Amino acid sequence: MSFIPAKPGLVEQFSAIVGHANCIADDAGMQPYLNDWRGNYTGKALAVVRPANTDEVAELVKLCARTQTPIVPQGGNTGMVGGGIPDTRGNALVLSLGRMNRIRGIDTENNTITVEAGVILQALQDAAMSAGRLFPLSLAAEGSCTIGGNLSTNAGGTAVLRYGNTRDLALGLEVVTPSGDIWQGLKGLRKDNTGYDLKHCFIGAEGTLGIITAAVLKLFPQPQSSVTAFAALPSPQAAVELLGSMRAAAGDRLVAFELVSRVCLDLVLRHFPGTAEPFAERHPWHVLIELNDTMPDAPLQEMLETELGRALERGQIADAAIASSEGQARALWKLREDISEAQRLEGKNVKHDISVPISRIPAFIDKCDAALIAAFPDISLVCFGHVGDGNLHYNCGLPDQGLGKADQINSIVYAHVDESGGSISAEHGLGQLKRDEITHHKTKIELDMMRALKRALDPTGIMNPGKVL
Ligand code: FAD
Ligand code: MLT
Ligand code: ZN
Repeated sequence: MSFIPAKPGLVEQFSAIVGHANCIADDAGMQPYLNDWRGNYTGKALAVVRPANTDEVAELVKLCARTQTPIVPQGGNTGMVGGGIPDTRGNALVLSLGRMNRIRGIDTENNTITVEAGVILQALQDAAMSAGRLFPLSLAAEGSCTIGGNLSTNAGGTAVLRYGNTRDLALGLEVVTPSGDIWQGLKGLRKDNTGYDLKHCFIGAEGTLGIITAAVLKLFPQPQSSVTAFAALPSPQAAVELLGSMRAAAGDRLVAFELVSRVCLDLVLRHFPGTAEPFAERHPWHVLIELNDTMPDAPLQEMLETELGRALERGQIADAAIASSEGQARALWKLREDISEAQRLEGKNVKHDISVPISRIPAFIDKCDAALIAAFPDISLVCFGHVGDGNLHYNCGLPDQGLGKADQINSIVYAHVDESGGSISAEHGLGQLKRDEITHHKTKIELDMMRALKRALDPTGIMNPGKVL
């Protein structure tokens, strides 16, 4: 797709729609919107606009459609794959949803909340909590990421095991289409079989099919009791076995089951003063486990102790620490949630966000570790993640940060992912990072259908060009 150069006066026209203060066109002002969290992408833009409402978004999109100006939607800019960063041509408009941060309504009988796209995830959790409900999406970036970004990436996080991905939490959307029309799909319905379910086209589309401006989301009962534990294990195989016995015993009370390798724990301990090794001895693998229940006096601790005791007898775990206060639970969660930031502080790495069937996790790790170590004897393998969802963050570091070897490293990792029947992006999306790589992992029919959808909804290709496809 080729684009005509920006028309003179365009920035002034953007400014007339959103107001001078919300149209940023100077280099310094645009910087935070043009660089990604990992420090991998730097883009250029005509301007960054911060609309106040859906009508302003629609007016901006109509102007961009008329002038063939590429649009890059952006939420909290915490994405891992460069999806919210424009390319370097400098002819794009970055459309930041951050000012659209109103909670439009809460219906406690329908158990739904209607929010604008720019609501920060933590603010959404807090609003649900104030209404006596739970909004369960949870990830380490929740203080900065927005629900519009979460929907657009179909974010996962640490409670997918119990509540599903963001897609599973959405009942309705409001979207500005690439022609600038407003699709009002804000219905709070749990059943609606009236043809294609259009919201699912936009969820996980990473801003390539339209702009999500608001959503109706599911709310859940607030848990009244919970228990958190950190267990030390000999191997990923033991983690998968423990996951099986925990699920069998706790059912849906098992909310989180997160894997943490030795290297990950060491990274967190090194970069976050105040964190502490949870056990007297060092162990190669760990899992963080959380159970919750809506009954205040649910016997979660007993259940966890019984299962961990049995696992100890079977040799599946070597040790375990159960939090006896909320503070201790938070400290255990910190050991898991701070891994990404610790790794960022450590330096660049070749990141993978892969999924395989849970049963194939141990073989994947064993074989892929061995192949990488054979090719790069000094490689550091930072493996952690949502083992309960079959999703590993399998990051690779080399003394020179490994970026020059990224292609070789990727080809080893992705060959093992394919062999395991897995996916090269479990939760972060494709963005610009995996746009080319994905063509080697999807069939022609899949790619053709994706391209047909893109052409149908965005025939001139103004929505987030260079991402996903
Ligand atoms: P952005 O980064 O701004 O945008 C992401 C993509 O969505 C871009 O393609 C953008 O164009 C598009 N987009 C944004 N808003 C809209 C909109 N309103 N309409 C249309 N398109 C839009 N991700 C997980 O899935 N699970 C995790 O556990 C997790 N942990 C993380 C931990 C850390 C420390 C960090 C930094 C990131 C983590 N992420 C995780 C990645 C990231 O937080 C998620 O992808 C998040 O959903 C992005 O939200 P955002 O508002 O920052 O979106
Ligand atoms: C996480 O689960 O912590 C993330 O998705 C972030 C990461 O992969 O670094
Ligand atoms: Zn993750």
